[in-house]
Amino acid sequence: MKFLSSLCGLLVAVACLARDPQSNLTITPGAVWLDTDGRAINAHGGGVLFHEGVYYWYGELKEGRTYLPKVNQSWGGTRVVAGGVAVYSSKDLVNWKNEGVALPSTPRNPNHDLAPENVLERPKVIYNARTKKFVMWLHQDSPDYQAARSGVAVSDTPVGPFKYVGSFRPNAGVQPLNVAPADLIPAAGNIFARDLAGGQMARDMTLFVDDDGTAYQFYSSENNETMHVSQLSDDYLRPAGKYARIFIGESVEAPAVFKHNGKYYVLGSGCTGWDPNPARLAVADSIFGPWTNLENPCRGPDAELTFLSQSTFVLPVAGRPGKFIAMFDRWNKWDLADSRYVWLPLEFDASGTPVIPWRDSWSPAE
Ligand code: GAL
Repeated sequence: MKFLSSLCGLLVAVACLARDPQSNLTITPGAVWLDTDGRAINAHGGGVLFHEGVYYWYGELKEGRTYLPKVNQSWGGTRVVAGGVAVYSSKDLVNWKNEGVALPSTPRNPNHDLAPENVLERPKVIYNARTKKFVMWLHQDSPDYQAARSGVAVSDTPVGPFKYVGSFRPNAGVQPLNVAPADLIPAAGNIFARDLAGGQMARDMTLFVDDDGTAYQFYSSENNETMHVSQLSDDYLRPAGKYARIFIGESVEAPAVFKHNGKYYVLGSGCTGWDPNPARLAVADSIFGPWTNLENPCRGPDAELTFLSQSTFVLPVAGRPGKFIAMFDRWNKWDLADSRYVWLPLEFDASGTPVIPWRDSWSPAE
């Protein structure tokens, strides 16, 4: 009897190990990833902050039924109600503890920016060493994506709750560093000139903190046709009024920015909604440009469709210079809550150019 019960115990332990692909510190891109409570991780369009020995993963909470609002029927813009911003913590990048909702949506207040019917996407959090505050920026939008605004929230701790400060269209009334006289002439199709006074459209976005502590927002602007790189104020709460238009007319979104050997890189995608397309990559010596396009860095099955996913963040692995993780979302447009995560090592080839080879599974400790 004793032998039988120990055998059962052993079998249960083996079965648990077999069911838990994370027990041996591996990442399996595209699988359902469980948190330390055994629940599917819910943090889409996310970004990771490393702070005092801990990684914090912030992302969109996508729960419930996927629906296609009438206003988005022409372009297939399916939605789930916005659940807010989730945060998870980890020391090894594999075992993630659910730390709750860092920034909740506001179901009782339909007129609020963060009302569930509105869009609340691509949250990113950075730490301001001067103010000792954690600052979150996100894409805030109306259900039809026409408001195209940036929202800002602040917290004293990495897990929040963050206090929502408000939203705006960046750089109202401010001319970019690389303005040409013709850009300022209002004409049909000149969205930049149209929005100069009221502020520029801002949809997909990311934040990047440079070595000197200066922070920048990269956002898809001008109806996603052109990206802006915009310096933030010292407290990281608003634009500093210094920005450049980059990838002019090239329709790049889903920006993820990183720096290696003194060069800046933007990993991004084309603009095809939830559907995948070839990844974009560009390099620059100065953050405001000029930016030079490189080829799609993805290698392996479905590389021409970014492994059926879309970039969201490039994470420098703490304490291991030159090690980066490229984070992508594999969207499921008809069941957005079941969208998956594709994280892969970003490597540098012999010429020093970033490449992202597919791996069925891998370990961030390798
Ligand atoms: C994508 C964008 C996502 C989301 C989606 C909505 O182009 O990258 O963040 O906004 O469109 O269809």
